[in-house]
Amino acid sequence: LDVSGSVWNKLVCCLILTLTARLTLSPSSSQFFEGDSLSLSCEEDDSSAGWTLRRNTTRETRTQCDDWGTSAGSSCNISLSFPSDSGVYWCESREGATSQSINITVSGKMTVILQSPVLPVMEGENITLICRTQTSSDLPADFYKHGSLIIDRPTGHVTILHVSKADEGVYRCNIRGHGESPPGWISVTGQQLQFD
Ligand SMILES: *[C@@H]1O[C@H](CO)[C@@H](O)[C@H](O)[C@H]1NC(C)=O
Ligand SMILES: *[C@@H]1O[C@H](CO)[C@@H](O)[C@H](O)[C@H]1NC(C)=O
Ligand SMILES: *[C@@H]1O[C@H](CO)[C@@H](O)[C@H](O)[C@H]1NC(C)=O
Ligand SMILES: *[C@@H]1O[C@H](CO)[C@@H](O)[C@H](O)[C@H]1NC(C)=O
Repeated sequence: LDVSGSVWNKLVCCLILTLTARLTLSPSSSQFFEGDSLSLSCEEDDSSAGWTLRRNTTRETRTQCDDWGTSAGSSCNISLSFPSDSGVYWCESREGATSQSINITVSGKMTVILQSPVLPVMEGENITLICRTQTSSDLPADFYKHGSLIIDRPTGHVTILHVSKADEGVYRCNIRGHGESPPGWISVTGQQLQFD
């Protein structure tokens, strides 16, 4: 057994937390219009683990970025999205370890979407919610949390400063004359480290 260097560090480390990659998505949202571009990446603790992006859709299982996007290292772009890009995305190491996963819905049918952080946000961060139609993110919008109006904005976006646990919940937005978005779930974590 080689207990020197990084192997030993991993053994010690993994008794406490699992070495993992953090999946990021930009813009951070689970809702996209057909034609939007999106960028995913695996932020890794250990690049030697060979993290790659994978996805399941209704048509494919565990396919890698090269099959559906443009990859560079452990990041991946979809420059022109289609409804067939809807699915669950995650990072996976060569040994089969997985990151948290995110669900993405790309639709040509929705009239309004809410772009809100799809992964847990850290307490104290500022977050921005954007309410948009296919062609504009500048229309007046009403934002709801758990069904109650929290704010109406002339510009289609709202920033929540220094989020706390109390900001967790299910949000929607509405653009008059266009309609209501699907729900977006915001979760807030107080922890620096991500445990599996
Ligand atoms: C992807 O699909 C495979 C095969 O159906 C399944 O075993 C796996 O759990 C799916 N992964 C996610 C993250 O849903
Ligand atoms: C993905 O898009 C981002 C932002 O547009 C860009 O900075 C990055 O270089 C692109 N990456 C790839 C792999 O094309
Ligand atoms: C993704 O969607 C599937 C089916 O719609 C659901 O079972 C699963 O819990 C979702 N996962 C996440 C991370 O939201
Ligand atoms: C949040 O926004 C406020 C006001 O714009 C700024 O002072 C603060 O530095 C921001 N906090 C973070 C964590 O970005």
